[in-house]
Amino acid sequence: MITAKNNNSTNSMSPKDGPQIIAVTSGKGGVGKTNFSVNTALLLSKLNQKVLIIDADIHLGNVDVMFGISPDFTLVDVLKGSKSLKEIIKKTPYGVDFLPATSGVMDIIEGEDNIVMSIAQAFNEFQHEYDIILIDTGAGVSVSTLSFVLGTDKIIVVVTPDPSSISDAYAMIKIINQYQDNAQIMMVANRVRNEETGESLFYKMNLIVNKFLNTSLIFGGSIMDDTQVLASVHAQQPVVIRYPRAKAVINMQLICRRILKLPVRKPLPKEGNYFDKVRERLNNLDLGGKSA
Ligand SMILES: Nc1ncnc2c1ncn2[C@@H]1O[C@H](COP(=O)(O)OP(=O)(O)OP(=O)(O)O)[C@@H](O)[C@H]1O
Ligand SMILES: [Mg+2]
Repeated sequence: MITAKNNNSTNSMSPKDGPQIIAVTSGKGGVGKTNFSVNTALLLSKLNQKVLIIDADIHLGNVDVMFGISPDFTLVDVLKGSKSLKEIIKKTPYGVDFLPATSGVMDIIEGEDNIVMSIAQAFNEFQHEYDIILIDTGAGVSVSTLSFVLGTDKIIVVVTPDPSSISDAYAMIKIINQYQDNAQIMMVANRVRNEETGESLFYKMNLIVNKFLNTSLIFGGSIMDDTQVLASVHAQQPVVIRYPRAKAVINMQLICRRILKLPVRKPLPKEGNYFDKVRERLNNLDLGGKSA
């Protein structure tokens, strides 16, 4: 059975307390987790955070493709004690470090029960200083995904407007809540037409979660459906690098500020009406029901 460690809320701005461990997950596959993880890692690093990204999608992991690097060793070697973190962590050309998991990690999961605890311990032992460890997980409710999700400081659930993505995300949130009722779950609406669609997706999901699971989600933000994302994936380059002014990049910048709990300020249109002002105030609020 999977068990969760007590979720000690860490301060993302203080590396001395140990890195903040964030898992990126979803109910349905193909909703944009890897794209979000890689680009968010890069944007967080631009906000002066030392970031390590772990590719924990042990079946279809492709963070390495996005970075254009092929690692020789994996997290398994660290958890078995045969390699040190320093020996296996790959530096990417973008200032973010990268560590792959691979399928062999499942043997360790069986023995250790909770992989996140092992990761946290490994990082303590080696005293490697990261501000944030971002884990790109596989989709869906499975032992391997949950092993990387439970026990993290924050769980980001990526949802698209597709009905099956919404229902599968709810199923995922339900399971997370069952194992870890104090989990900080942030929802990110991806591939939306406009911000209103993303916000209404969040409010609907949060309402159901409030009603049936008696908990609240944190609003991460909305990412537009953006053809420049697709073009970057085809070019095997993160969109943040290829098209730094893309709409999706601006959206992810806002989400990063929310992750770091920095003030979020969106410019008002010149003739901003009353509703624009209300929206701006909403954007500056922490919408999480729990202390984020
Ligand atoms: N905001 C977006 N706009 C347009 N296309 C997007 C956006 N986000 C993701 N995509 C596209 O969706 C596809 C799937 O993205 P990605 O591989 O990141 O999903 P995933 O959730 O990691 O999938 P898996 O569950 O297989 O790991 C990619 O081709 C990507 O280009
Ligand atoms: Mg992926």
